[in-house]
Amino acid sequence: MQKSILILGACGQIGTELTYVLRKKHGANTVIASDIREGNESLMNSGPFELLDATDYNALEEVIAYYEISEVYLMAAMLSATAEKFPMRAWNLNMNSLFNVLNLAKEKKIDKIFWPSSIAVFGPNTPVDDTPQNTIMEPSTVYGISKQSGERWCNYYHQKFGVDVRSIRYPGLISYKTMPGGGTTDYAVEIYHKALSSQTYTCFLKKDTKLPMMFMDDAIRATLMLMESHPNSIKIRSSYNLAGMSFCPAEIAESIKREIPGFTIDYKPDFRQEIADSWPNSIDDSMARMHWGWQSEFDLERTTREMLYNLKENKQ
Ligand SMILES: NC(=O)c1ccc[n+]([C@@H]2O[C@H](COP(=O)([O-])OP(=O)(O)OC[C@H]3O[C@@H](n4cnc5c(N)ncnc54)[C@H](O)[C@@H]3O)[C@@H](O)[C@H]2O)c1
Repeated sequence: MQKSILILGACGQIGTELTYVLRKKHGANTVIASDIREGNESLMNSGPFELLDATDYNALEEVIAYYEISEVYLMAAMLSATAEKFPMRAWNLNMNSLFNVLNLAKEKKIDKIFWPSSIAVFGPNTPVDDTPQNTIMEPSTVYGISKQSGERWCNYYHQKFGVDVRSIRYPGLISYKTMPGGGTTDYAVEIYHKALSSQTYTCFLKKDTKLPMMFMDDAIRATLMLMESHPNSIKIRSSYNLAGMSFCPAEIAESIKREIPGFTIDYKPDFRQEIADSWPNSIDDSMARMHWGWQSEFDLERTTREMLYNLKENKQ
């Protein structure tokens, strides 16, 4: 029987692209996109869509039964910068949506879950360079606390109830199809838009703040690789470290200048600087490489070329 897939939070930065790729792979009608709001026109026209609140267990259960869903990708969440403004709302959304899908799997109503964690699980006491899979994790943000707790619950549901839940600690994601949703690494998307529209950008982080980042195509490929791996090869049921590239605002600006020589950048750090300062510079993803064959493809230069080319194309 053809499996059906449900994406919660499908209209966001990752959900949109994940929906396109899964629909291309499995057929449009077997991939149900859902969110509390409508997405962009091309997403809405690409296949079935349900207005669905991931924190509403009964509504979720109904949609899962109706479409005979076997796999859920839970992309609904409140991201790091926004979560600092609305701590309890972030906690409730990030945790209750996760409990809902974990409990549906425990009840055998779905077979497999993807739930993303983040580099925000690390904190100011974590070693910052080549941050290992297992290390000190004392997150100092609301978002990071919710992701770290989520990881423990995923591992617990796997150990106690055999739930097949799989997870990646995504770095900051760079993409051109949708705008980012309120994270600390959003500058690395905004900068390309501004480079094309006004040749100048004011960055909300300091010039030398190095963070782990990844181009969206790599992130989606990693997600599918993990979800398609044999269960026995997935030896980490909290969440896998994953690395693409690492750079600071001055370095991304340099790479843009190579394509747009007149581009200029200045720096006005805001509250997001403190969040960024608590996160690693770079990530050791050797476990993902060893267990399910992960390898990244996009470095900063290739990302810059892809971003500028596609943003220009989309404007025409
Ligand atoms: N984008 C990144 O750089 C990044 C990095 C690390 C981890 N992540 C994680 O990946 C996941 C997706 O991130 P994103 O960047 O696509 O986020 P986003 O903010 O762009 O999208 C989240 C989507 O969830 C929807 N949503 C909000 N509340 C909802 C609810 N109650 N029910 C259903 N949908 C709801 C929003 O409308 C939005 O479309 C999140 O768990 C996020 O923490 C993202």
